[in-house]
Amino acid sequence: MAIIFNEKEKVFKLDTISSSYMMGIEGQLGHLVHLYYGKKIKGDAAPAGMPGINMAQKIWFMDGNPMEYPAGGCGDFREHCIEIETEEGYTALEPVYASHEITKGKPALPGLPATFAEEDDCTTIAIKLIDAPTGVQITLFYTVFENLDVITRSVRIKNTSDGVIRLTKAMSGCLDIGNEEGYELITLHGSWGRERCIERRKVARGRQGVSVERGTSSHQENPFMALVSPGTNQNMGEVFAMNLIYSGNHVEVCELTNGNLIRMVSGINPYKFSWKLEKDDEFVTPELVMVHSDAGLGKMTRTFHDLYRKHLLRGKYRNIKRPILINNWEGTYFDFDTDKLLAIARDAAKVGIEMLVVDDGWFGNRFDDNRALGDWFVNEDKVKGGLKYLVDEVNKLGMKFGLWFEPEMVCPDSDLYRAHPDWAFQIPGRTPALSRNQMVLDITRKEVRDYIVDSMSKVLSSANVEYIKWDMNRALSDVASLGLPADRQGEIYHRYVLGVYELQDRITTAFPYILLENCSSGGGRYDAGMLYYGPQIWTSDNADAIDRLTIQEGTALVYPLSTMGAHVTDCPNHSVGRTTPFETRGIIALAGTFGYELDVTKISEAERNMIPEQTAMYHKYNDLVREGDYYRLASYSENKVYDSYMVVSKDKREALVTYASVRTIAGYPDPTIKLAGLDEDTVYHVDYLDRDVCGDVLMNYGLPVRHEHGDYKARLYHLTAV
Ligand code: DGJ
Repeated sequence: MAIIFNEKEKVFKLDTISSSYMMGIEGQLGHLVHLYYGKKIKGDAAPAGMPGINMAQKIWFMDGNPMEYPAGGCGDFREHCIEIETEEGYTALEPVYASHEITKGKPALPGLPATFAEEDDCTTIAIKLIDAPTGVQITLFYTVFENLDVITRSVRIKNTSDGVIRLTKAMSGCLDIGNEEGYELITLHGSWGRERCIERRKVARGRQGVSVERGTSSHQENPFMALVSPGTNQNMGEVFAMNLIYSGNHVEVCELTNGNLIRMVSGINPYKFSWKLEKDDEFVTPELVMVHSDAGLGKMTRTFHDLYRKHLLRGKYRNIKRPILINNWEGTYFDFDTDKLLAIARDAAKVGIEMLVVDDGWFGNRFDDNRALGDWFVNEDKVKGGLKYLVDEVNKLGMKFGLWFEPEMVCPDSDLYRAHPDWAFQIPGRTPALSRNQMVLDITRKEVRDYIVDSMSKVLSSANVEYIKWDMNRALSDVASLGLPADRQGEIYHRYVLGVYELQDRITTAFPYILLENCSSGGGRYDAGMLYYGPQIWTSDNADAIDRLTIQEGTALVYPLSTMGAHVTDCPNHSVGRTTPFETRGIIALAGTFGYELDVTKISEAERNMIPEQTAMYHKYNDLVREGDYYRLASYSENKVYDSYMVVSKDKREALVTYASVRTIAGYPDPTIKLAGLDEDTVYHVDYLDRDVCGDVLMNYGLPVRHEHGDYKARLYHLTAV
């Protein structure tokens, strides 16, 4: 059994394949305290007895106690998980154990994305805590996945009192760890065009971490943090990782106390959060995924990848090859019509591209980015002959067709805004901030969500559209809803996220054959929440092959390769002006979903002639890339010279190594790269070297890569078991 309760010791023990997590009910007052998280241990007793300094008489603060779900106001002065305010204005909470239940399987979270599993794949414990003076009931859910080192958590908070309770902070989970090791903290920081760069720092005294107040999970800080022991690398070291399955404001706090204890807390950002709970109302927090690794960051990564591929991604495309697409955005921007699109499609079909995606500009009066968002009807001045004609012509070429939407937005210069100015977020009496000349629709309102679903559905039903790119191009500001009363304005940020989830749920349920790719000015909403609705996300608007090495390294630290939108674009690159070989661009894009974003009629003959070979490589390698185990071998962002990663099939019979030589340095020997994840006794044929080499040699001596003369070169090495 993965979860047990030791009745005598009052200890809960959760076991994954190689980790254990323990909590206990402190004897007199009944606080739920954290006992252990780490490498799997035997036994089910509290390793050092129950912590607590004479808690029974409450003669001292509980400031040093490892509380499982700490609340503020009663003597725990560290970062805590929950804050409330009663009608009287009281804010203290001291929840104590009431009951628990252990069940097979995993309950869904109402209205929220979450991991899922067959009944046999996991076990869940729900521990109920109660704060008697306020009537606040807190149920902590923990699910253990049998075959992964994963524990997921969520919290249900219920007002069982007769009065109104205001919930002003509701975190998804907390972890108290002693800092004897001197831990380091890893987060994923970024900006537009430079998403999810790995940031590592020594944990210092006080509170640190990341937080976002932009309304989406953001380019700036991903909802991820990992505490690692000093010296942790891909293969060694202890890792405690948290990833929040959420797409809105979030915080990841890591506090080092005067007592050398670390507390990690993650959840919805309390910034402008205030949720009104009337009698018997419940609030459910987003799910927090915890991964423990006793063998470095690589094992953590592969655990996240396995979890998300098997227990988060859904729909027709979750584990099949995605069509190779060509997107017209960088090829034409707004300057296109049916003839131009069909010319692109005709040339694309000839070289093995399988889907035409028409990006921004096909609707309303959208000739530039100043107008028309919200007017989801086809602009027949551009799409001459209508959408159905265009799609039918594309289908006749043997290609699928996809379409761009930005459903959550409205431009002041649009029919929608003229008809419903109150549907956009705005604060009466203030001029709202425009960003890219657009405002955010108030999707906390049902009539707004219905308009979006109806107008999108009309377009999607009018032609054979098999892919949607769902974009979102500005942060939330001037957040006020004309549809909510004053005492619920503090609910808007979270209701907005719930609205996004409901919209995507309704569209993907109505059109289950459609492949949904999320996007937010590139990778500004790349999180596990969005992956629940669409199995791939546009990783970054910056498709420069060299910058992508860093962006894709950070993204793949947590999220599966099969989710990373990656395209070959034209050079000089539109984001950074760099020119890289076409071949390199193809190889780096093969690490993700693969496609093109250029006008294929305008690139050179030589480049066009390389596409059939690239599309063939995609078909040859994508099953391996999508389903295999990912190993990071070298990091250009660290060594500033070269990059390397590999994917090994689950049966270890096949592997693909990517090596990118970013800079050639005279007098600097080519690296011999130690491979990983192979079977040490299996002999592999290495295609590029045309040699048979044993797995243990490749992993210990390494792969001597061929010399690449000149900058920005990339090569694939394909290994097959002999
Ligand atoms: C931002 C996206 O990231 C781009 O790929 C493109 O779709 C534009 N929006 C269109 O406005």
